[in-house]
Amino acid sequence: MNTGTTFPDDFVWGTATASFQVEGAATVDGRKPSIWDTFCRTPGKVAFGHTGDVATDQYHRYDEDVRLMHELGVGSYRFSLAWPRIYPDGHGARNPRGFDYYNRLVDALLAHGIAPAVTLYHWDLPQTLQDEGGWPVRETALHFEEYARACFEALGDRVKSWITINEPWCVTLLSHLMGEHAPGLRDEQAAYSAIHHVNLAHGIALRVFREGGYDGRIGTTLNLSTPRPATSRDEDRLAADRAADRDSRMFLDPLLGRSYPERHLAAHPGVDLPVRDGDMELIAGKLDFLGLNYYNERAVRFDAEAPEQFVTVTTHHPLTAMGWPIVPDGLYRQLHWVNSQTGGLPLYVTENGCACDDRLSSDGTRVHDTDRIDYLRSHFRVCARAIEDGVSLKGYYLWSLIDNFEWAWGYTRRFGIVFCDYTDLRRVPKDSYYFYREVIAGNEPV
Ligand code: FCB
Repeated sequence: MNTGTTFPDDFVWGTATASFQVEGAATVDGRKPSIWDTFCRTPGKVAFGHTGDVATDQYHRYDEDVRLMHELGVGSYRFSLAWPRIYPDGHGARNPRGFDYYNRLVDALLAHGIAPAVTLYHWDLPQTLQDEGGWPVRETALHFEEYARACFEALGDRVKSWITINEPWCVTLLSHLMGEHAPGLRDEQAAYSAIHHVNLAHGIALRVFREGGYDGRIGTTLNLSTPRPATSRDEDRLAADRAADRDSRMFLDPLLGRSYPERHLAAHPGVDLPVRDGDMELIAGKLDFLGLNYYNERAVRFDAEAPEQFVTVTTHHPLTAMGWPIVPDGLYRQLHWVNSQTGGLPLYVTENGCACDDRLSSDGTRVHDTDRIDYLRSHFRVCARAIEDGVSLKGYYLWSLIDNFEWAWGYTRRFGIVFCDYTDLRRVPKDSYYFYREVIAGNEPV
């Protein structure tokens, strides 16, 4: 008997990956380098100099991964398209073999009753576009138009769910201000120019989709930061609200037809956002849904000395193998906050999961990842609670189907519910895979 919380019958259960993290086949069938291929080869940027050359080799092993998903029972697979496979130089000449792989993958998914949810951009910018200026220049957003249209044309007859850009915060601030992701810049103006151009690229893709009259739904995926106040003091509440300006409102507000947050811009008078007439209207184009990637929540307190008068404080939550605090209630709070901002827009958790120190059992057939099961269960529970409260949460995509290239951490961090043995690329479902299968089937109370 299921005594736990239940989910609506039409709730979408899925898994997620991204092209650079799983595909491999970096030089196969006309693909040219992306900024991540370059970054991996830049000394000191990626753990052990790991690359995406092979990754999990999903490019050649997608059949096995689709079968694993079918046996898992997911209704949808979120994956991304590699821009440098389709336009190896970013624009101009289209690579005719670019879509062959995605056609095969999409057809295999549909043959197994799994709906593709396709992200257009999950960070693998063609290197040529970077050489021409990358996201800090407007042309990159304009080239995104040609790329997005090609994707809708080629796959839109079968793909009914589209995500424009994954985590603009990472594309811009983490990559252009903090230097931790490709292209590894530490340049404030470049970062803020990138913010506007990434938002613009999203808006342009929306327009192309609407004007093309494609059948399906289109949205985007944000990793919002909605920190909680360290105490209930008013000054800490205000600090928490200010902390959301840069990391959330710079991305969410323009989508909702608001301007960039004045309070944040006023604190950065030297920064220029290269907004032109008509841009904000494009960016505020109609969304069919909003995706949220949630991993953790931080706490902040007021600090009169800090640039925007807040600092992050240490909390005492258990940590994942990434060192990220496990705060399921933070997802609950974020879902409510976003719901209050978006007023009934369908929401999806497009990524959630955790890295654990997974080990193969001595006979090589199992991985007992009980920590991941605990993490997932606690996050499923708050999703169910939010739905009961009336939050319009429609689905959940677990990050990740399979262990993969975890960006600057290379292969040293494992997020999968399927273990990838990088010595022979063998796939071994972990205990969390079997747990998720039972949850999806409705047999496992959460
Ligand atoms: C997110 C990324 C995803 C993955 C997870 C762990 O920020 O979108 O590709 O690396 O973190």
